[in-house]
Amino acid sequence: MDINTFSKLTYGVYIVGSGDKDKKNAFIATAVFQVTAIPEKIAIASNKDNYTTEFIQDKKAFSISVLKQNYTPLTMGNFGFRSGRSFNKFEKCNYILGEKTGVPIVLDDTMSWFECTVEQEMDLGTHILFVGKVVDCAIISEEETPLTYQYYHEVKKGVTHKNAPSYIDVNKNISKNKN
Ligand SMILES: Cc1cc2nc3c(=O)[nH]c(=O)nc-3n(C[C@H](O)[C@H](O)[C@H](O)COP(=O)(O)O)c2cc1C
Repeated sequence: MDINTFSKLTYGVYIVGSGDKDKKNAFIATAVFQVTAIPEKIAIASNKDNYTTEFIQDKKAFSISVLKQNYTPLTMGNFGFRSGRSFNKFEKCNYILGEKTGVPIVLDDTMSWFECTVEQEMDLGTHILFVGKVVDCAIISEEETPLTYQYYHEVKKGVTHKNAPSYIDVNKNISKNKN
C-alpha cells in the first residue's frame, strides 16, 4: 500500500468556526465536502485535539468560510497552525455572527460562507465527523478564485498540519514499505 496515493485526492481549503459572540474559535480545514443536495448538507472532519471541536459539540452548529486563492499567510498561520486555547484568534479578525445560529463566520481572506446546524456526529477515532444542515449561506465576492489544497501545496508551498485527515506520515510509509 503506497500511502502517497492519498496525495492524489483533491480538496479545497476552508475556515470552520463555532461558538457565540462571547466565546468563539475557528480552524483551517480541508476535510469539508457537500454530502447531499436535498436538503443541502455538508460534512466536516474535526480533530478531537482541535479546540474548535469542543465549541461545535457544545453549540451544535458551525460555519464554513471558503478561503480565496490570494489569502494572507497571517490568516493561515492564525487559524491553521495555532490553537485558540493559547490566544484569541478573533481579536484582529473581521467576522460576522450567523443570523440563524450565532456562530462566528470569518470574513478575512474568504469569498463565501455557509452556516450549519449539526444533524449527526460520528466518532472516527482521531476525528469527529459532523454532518451539518446548511441553514444560511452567501457569496462575499464573485471576483475571487477559491483556494484548492493543490494550489496551497504546490504554488504557496504550504504544509499540512498533523491534525488534518490529509496529513501523510512519511515515516509510517517508510516503515510500512520495509515490512
Ligand atoms: C492546510 C491545513 C488543513 C487542515 N485540515 C484540517 C482538517 O480537515 N481537519 C482538522 O481537524 N484539522 C485540520 N487542520 C488542522 C487545524 O487547522 C489545526 O489543528 C488548528 O490549529 C486547530 O485550531 P484550534 O485548536 O484552535 O481549533 C488543517 C491545518 C492546515 C494547515
